[in-house]
Amino acid sequence: QADLKNTLLEINRLAGNYFYYQLKQPQGRVGYEYFRNRGLSDETIRRFGLGYSLKTPDDLYRYMRSKGYGDGILKETGLFYIEERGSRDKFWNRVMFPILDVNNRLIGFGGRVMGEGEPKYLNSPETKLFDKSRNLYGLNFARTSRAGYMLVCEGYMDVIAMHQAGFTNAVASLGTAFTSQHASLLKRYTDQAVLTYDSDGAGTKAALRAIPILKEAGISVKVLDMKPYKDPDEFMKNLGREEFQKRIDSAVGSFMFEISVIRSQYNMQDPESKTAFYNAAARKLLEFPEKLERDAYTEAVAREYMIPQEDLKRLVSSLGGQY
Ligand code: UTP
Ligand code: MN
Ligand code: MN
Ligand code: MN
Ligand code: MN
Repeated sequence: QADLKNTLLEINRLAGNYFYYQLKQPQGRVGYEYFRNRGLSDETIRRFGLGYSLKTPDDLYRYMRSKGYGDGILKETGLFYIEERGSRDKFWNRVMFPILDVNNRLIGFGGRVMGEGEPKYLNSPETKLFDKSRNLYGLNFARTSRAGYMLVCEGYMDVIAMHQAGFTNAVASLGTAFTSQHASLLKRYTDQAVLTYDSDGAGTKAALRAIPILKEAGISVKVLDMKPYKDPDEFMKNLGREEFQKRIDSAVGSFMFEISVIRSQYNMQDPESKTAFYNAAARKLLEFPEKLERDAYTEAVAREYMIPQEDLKRLVSSLGGQY
């Protein structure tokens, strides 16, 4: 088992070097241009070991065979479709993102189409090395950050854009749901997370799911307001690092974020809907068993949504909450 893992690591490392090498070849120029057009510097490309997989369907496969690896082990890498009538590469004409674990071991890859196309990102399948629910992209760098908190986002390009802008404490769960294993892993390095998920519906949903998981692991959570931009990569391109830092500094606690999401589901022009929001907010305040904490949050909600504090407290009390 240890031997198998070591061989898989060796093959991944060879593949990573191969993809990286192609970026600087004439046939890989398109990949290089793609990254440069997205604002990545040569230094960033090198640091993240970015690469390019050729248009030819089986060049990586033939390369690995020429190095003496057999079909059995190559199948285990998840990098190939191994078939009787002809084996092929999984990644084909894509820009490549090697995925490193905290110990800088290359455990898998993501590959993006250059431009439009489905799927936008193709990822290594789960292998003996690669467990998506236990690894966070960027943590190999972020672990040594002294910021005192981690920025948690969705994607490869978000992590890279933030690191390039100096926020070397950014990590991503790579499109998959944030798990309790992710949270325990993160907890080894920090007890404060700032969520920087996409500002669309999917990103908001993902943030709402991640919050209780992080809190459960003992990590306190804030949520950064990305608007009007879609994700950290776009934000950085448009407003830059100083504005991003300001957004970090003004990130709201997870509870106030959750309330704001609830609020967005109601129409405050309509008395019935408005009343329903008050009730929903009051029920949410019941989550605090501690009197002092509930007082503080009730005050904050009352202030934010201009609800008379005493009225809100009365409503919470009527639902069974004590003040
Ligand atoms: P997004 O769709 O938000 O993409 O998915 P992105 O990161 O902003 O990508 P760019 O900026 O268009 O290049 C967020 C993350 O979800 C995973 C990837 O890890 C991606 O970075 N994902 C997304 C997939 O694995 N497959 C997909 O088809 C799409
Ligand atoms: Mn290929
Ligand atoms: Mn998204
Ligand atoms: Mn995105
Ligand atoms: Mn993006």
